[in-house]
Amino acid sequence: MILKNVFVCKNPIIQDSLSHLRDKKTSLHEFRENSDRICYLLFAEATKSLSCKKGKIETPLCETTSCTLDENIVVVPVLRSGIAMLFGAMDLLPNVKVGFVGLERDECTAVAREYYWKLPEIDHNTTIIVTDPMLATGGSILHLLRRMAEENPKEMRVASVLAAPEGIEAIHQEFPKVKIFTASIDQKLNDKKYIVPGLGDYGDRYFNTV
Ligand code: URA
Repeated sequence: MILKNVFVCKNPIIQDSLSHLRDKKTSLHEFRENSDRICYLLFAEATKSLSCKKGKIETPLCETTSCTLDENIVVVPVLRSGIAMLFGAMDLLPNVKVGFVGLERDECTAVAREYYWKLPEIDHNTTIIVTDPMLATGGSILHLLRRMAEENPKEMRVASVLAAPEGIEAIHQEFPKVKIFTASIDQKLNDKKYIVPGLGDYGDRYFNTV
């Protein structure tokens, strides 16, 4: 498997939160708390190396150089569980633009059907960060990446709490330059396409719909 452009975030706070998320005994309250923490930190990783504009500012002591974020960032959560990662993104980047794409799986054909599309303007200075806490087969993420590539953004990235090798490979086969940020590359997908060892259904556990 190609591991170029995959960034596994080993920060101990991230890994500690991940262990709480994996534990089936973790309560709803603890799950939400640890999810918010891990997503905040993961999102900080996913924004590394974005461009800054140099300027000058005055500290109380003297003039010094400043660096202000100079990039149009658009976050696109994969519905529904990707929304759980939005809160951290909006905390870190209060002006971030958020786009929504609604996909629905056709039960007969198993093909994703798009029922909603609302994205802010994307230009050559836009970095798109797709959030999906569980990169399993990569099907929904790939659908979004294909559609957004048509808008010619500067860069596209993916932030996922967990990633399966199958999903990483599927994305990188088609989009080798997409950087993937995750807390762990797990072992595999099971026959129901759940990540193993994983943490179960992220959306159900976060939104309390078990
Ligand atoms: N989505 C989930 O919520 N969990 C998985 O294991 C795979 C996809």
